[in-house]
Amino acid sequence: MFELTVLFAALTAFIGMLAMNALPSHHHPLFRSERFRRATQDRLFITIESRDPNYEETRVRAFLEALGSVHVERVEAGRTEPMPRIPMPPLKPLPGWVWPALAILTVLSFLPITLIARERSTRVDRPRIQIIPDMDQQPKFKAQAANAIFADGRADRPPVAGAVARGEARIDDHFYRGIAGDRWAETFPMTLTPEILRRGQERFGIYCAPCHGLSGYGDGIVNVRAERLAEGTWVPPTSLTIRPSWGVR
Ligand code: HEC
Repeated sequence: MFELTVLFAALTAFIGMLAMNALPSHHHPLFRSERFRRATQDRLFITIESRDPNYEETRVRAFLEALGSVHVERVEAGRTEPMPRIPMPPLKPLPGWVWPALAILTVLSFLPITLIARERSTRVDRPRIQIIPDMDQQPKFKAQAANAIFADGRADRPPVAGAVARGEARIDDHFYRGIAGDRWAETFPMTLTPEILRRGQERFGIYCAPCHGLSGYGDGIVNVRAERLAEGTWVPPTSLTIRPSWGVR
């Protein structure tokens, strides 16, 4: 609606300007004056129209003369005779072959577009003519496409069994998944140093303390607020000081 408002405002202003100025106008009575041709070249014109309520011919003439005008002229608006035409030498008739040639050229000019339309609408086995091929033809298989070369018919190839991406070898289950043997690990996978402990404290303070509390009792600020709201959906964090293997909460 907003854009239509802007559009119609612009159109109304434009068409209204034309209508109120009585435009387009191909002729104006002033053009009849021989002297008017010098306007904007080396002369300045002042026009006082007779429909002005204060118009009175003798006074207007006297006024303009008092201003020091070079020439004062009365231009009739009502006359309808056109401007005198500049005489032109008569046109020579065209040679006889021009019209047939034009007709042939007109017919021929439809040929390219007809051929293109035919090529576009018919099926053929040969490849299309490509004047600028760019990268239009790319003989490759796209992801998740079919490919009959492989037994499973897929273009995507799974990595060779046992392949590991660089830097992704997470062999140490104790370290990466917290699993020791066939159960959850209860020891640390690395020897603890003051630096590791400080780093752990910092991470815990950032990511875990809001719920679990700085001491791990489950009394973080999120828990405090959730308990206060008492919406009935909050599961309080368990105390991290109780070991899971004890089976106690
Ligand atoms: C948005 C709040 C929130 C944050 C943050 C949070 N926890 Fe928890 N955590 C909980 C809740 C709630 C439980 C209990 C879930 C349950 O019993 O179903 C829980 C349970 C646990 C348990 C299991 C304890 C048990 O005895 O079963 C561990 C371990 C744990 N969180 C560790 C962490 C660590 C480590 C972090 C930081 C990396 C962390 N949590 C961050 C809310 C949180």
